[in-house]
Parts: sequence; C-alpha cells; structure tokens
Amino acid sequence: MTAFSGNGASYRVQPGGEIAGELTVPGDKSISHRSLMLGGIAEGETHITGFLAGEDCLATLRALQALGVRIERPEPRTVHVVGQGLEGLTAAGVPLEMGNAGTAMRLFMGLLAPQAFDSTLVGDESLMRRPMERVATPLRLMGADIRTRDGRPPVQIHGTPKLQAIDYALPVASAQVKSAVLLAGLSAFGRTRVTEPAPSRDHTERMLAAFGVEVLRDGATVAVAGGQRLTGTSVAVPADFSSAAFFLVAGCLAAPRGLLLRNVGVNPTRTGLLEMLRLMGADIRVHPLRQEARPGAEPTADIEVRKSRLKGIRVPEALVPLAIDEFPAFFVAAAVAEGETLVRGALELRVKESDRLAAMAQGLAVLGVESQLLEDGLWLRGGQALGGGIIESHGDHRIAMAFAVAGLVARGPIEIRDVANVATSFPGFVDIARSAGLQIETL
Ligand code: S3P
Repeated sequence: MTAFSGNGASYRVQPGGEIAGELTVPGDKSISHRSLMLGGIAEGETHITGFLAGEDCLATLRALQALGVRIERPEPRTVHVVGQGLEGLTAAGVPLEMGNAGTAMRLFMGLLAPQAFDSTLVGDESLMRRPMERVATPLRLMGADIRTRDGRPPVQIHGTPKLQAIDYALPVASAQVKSAVLLAGLSAFGRTRVTEPAPSRDHTERMLAAFGVEVLRDGATVAVAGGQRLTGTSVAVPADFSSAAFFLVAGCLAAPRGLLLRNVGVNPTRTGLLEMLRLMGADIRVHPLRQEARPGAEPTADIEVRKSRLKGIRVPEALVPLAIDEFPAFFVAAAVAEGETLVRGALELRVKESDRLAAMAQGLAVLGVESQLLEDGLWLRGGQALGGGIIESHGDHRIAMAFAVAGLVARGPIEIRDVANVATSFPGFVDIARSAGLQIETL
C-alpha cells in the first residue's frame, strides 16, 4: 500500500475524555451528489438544503458547472440547480476533475456515456488507482464507447447518444455501478434492468422517483424505461449516517451520560452498523422523525447512544453491504470489545479510498491490537487496553476519523498522519469532535 505524500496535516488526539451532548453531523454525501446530478439533467429548478459542502460533492458541483449547468450556492449548504434537461449538457472541453470522489466518477460515467459529446474523467492519486471497469463493462453492453487505462482512470468517454437498454446482473453489490447503469438507462432505448446480488444503497432509485421518474422494483431487480423526463424538485439532505457512525462508536466507548445525534438519515440500506453494534451489546436508541409524505422520501431519526460493554461478534455477511463505509469505525469498536471479531465477505473494502482492511490492520497493530488480515476480511482480538502511536491514514478520510475516535480509550496520544481528505466527507470534523468531548487538534 502506498502512503500519500498528502499535504502534511495530522491530528493529535490526547487519550481519554468523555463524549456527551447533542450534535448534527454534515449532510449525506451520497444524497448530495445525486441531488446535484439529477438536478442538472432535470427540467426546471432544484433546491437543495442540508447539502454536504465537502470536497467530494464540490467536485460534482464544479463538474456540472463545466458541463453547462447553472448552479448557485447562496449559503454553503443551500444549492439551487437550474436543470438543463436530459439532452442539455454541453462539452466541458477540459478533463473533469473528480478529486477523491469515486461516486462522482462512476455516476458521471453513466450520465456522460449517452451524451452527444466526449468527456474525460480524472481524479486524485487515490481515485486514479480505483477500478472503473465495473462500470465501463455494463455501459459498453449498452453500446457506450468508454476507455480506461488498465481498468483505472483516466476514463475517456466518446459520447454515444443511442444506447440500448440492458438486463444486467451486478457481479458485486455496488450502488455506484447500479446507479451508473440506471442513469445511462434514462437515455437508452427500452427498459434497463439491474439485478443486485445483495441490497446496496437505494438513494438513486428513491431520488429518481422524487424527480418524477417511474422506477420499478421487483425483488432484487430495479428497472427504468428510457426517455423519461425528470422534473426539478426540492431535496432536504439528512445528516450522513456514515459520518454519524464515528460518533455512534465514540458514544459506545465514552458517553456514560449519552450522546444524541440529530436528524440522521436512516435508510435501511445504510444502517447495517446499527445492527452490528447492537449485536455487540451497544445501547443505541433510534427515534424516528416524521417522514415526508412524497415519493422517494428518505427516512430520518434522532439517534441516542450510551457507553456500553461491547463483546466481539462474527459479522453476518448479509450486513456487510449495508455497512460498507462503516468498517473503519466498526473495527475500532471491535478492538475495544471483549473477545474475537470476524468479518468475512468484505473484499470490497480493499478497493475503497484505501485498502481499508490493510490500513485498519496496520493502524490497530500500532495500538497493540492483535489481528489477522484475511483476503476478504479481518479477524481481531479485542478487549486489551489500546496504546498510543503514529497512524498512517493512507489519505483515507474514514481511516483518519476512526483512529481519532480510538483516542477516547487509548493510554497514550495518537497521531494520525495525512488527514486532509477528511474534508472530502466531513468538513468541520475537528470542531464537532471537540464540542462532543474528543481532545483532538490539527497539527
Ligand atoms: C456509494 C456507494 C458505495 C460506497 C460509497 C458511496 C454511493 O460504493 O462505498 O462511499 O454513493 O453510491 P460501492 O457502490 O462501490 O459499494
């Protein structure tokens, strides 16, 4: 695994501290990306509130502007998108920079494949190493002309306006691949069907419905007919469950008086971590908020968590895709839990912003945790006191935040290297973490 040179920023977390109070984490990353993209190809205006002003979503925003979409941001978390219609995007003329954002790159592949112009997609060092054939393959079956370099970016798209619908069985549970195929399907002849091997997040399907598209679901298959118009709408983005996850774990470790997380998105395709923590014995209460009564609405809740005695578990494989971004935080909980924890069926973790299995095993070893890296998972023995030390985040935002949380129960200071990418998903993490009681500073 290559460590990034990054821009040098580090966190230092002093050991101990108590977590308490109420907090609202920033907006959902997946929903923010989709609200911009669907707003851009809709007819009429889309008004987004609670937008995640993180680097990943800002990359999507800038790319859409380069493709001719007028976007205004009167406040950091409020965005107005003037939709151009399905055929209204125009050539950017320069490579579109996706930064660290895998979701942006993969969804744009689906959106741009059927355009009447060519596009090139590039990203940062991490993204340039990530697999893109998983999206290019089904799009080519639809007639798209897409080139990757040895399966990785840059992605070169020769726009092909006459795509054909396909019936595609996803080889891995991936919301990004599913979404790219569905987005391309909006411009294809016929009805595009995607079948998932296990449920993955369904934000695209929900949001397409909110924009007036007919989306049919039959068991594990989701289908859209090409040629449907999207109508601009308003989107209220809930707080990101994946960002809340760090505080759910922090609360389990160090909130004897309880911690309340407000207005969190609790779409059941995202909340596998809740179940995993409960299996470990966590005291977590979910208080559902009233759901908007309109198509595509996302469920939200206030979530209360309290310090709990955790025990190690064997994670049911069915929960893995429902918690795919939460494993860095989960492994910290498992390191504290009494006994052994085993995760299998999580090969996908090796192709995230870093190889998250290897990065976690390496960081936990620094803190003195015994673990064994498996091809598709990780075994570890929890319950021993954690030490301090220097952790490499490998430029991965979620690895950095997970080890910051570990500081709550460590015996010595933890320094986490290369943390700038926390801004991709969780701007303001340090301020929010400090307000909750974590003794963290940026160096
Ligand atoms: C995402 C899907 C997941 C997830 C990523 C966001 C999305 O990736 O890990 O952080 O917004 O669709 P995969 O689709 O590759 O599982």
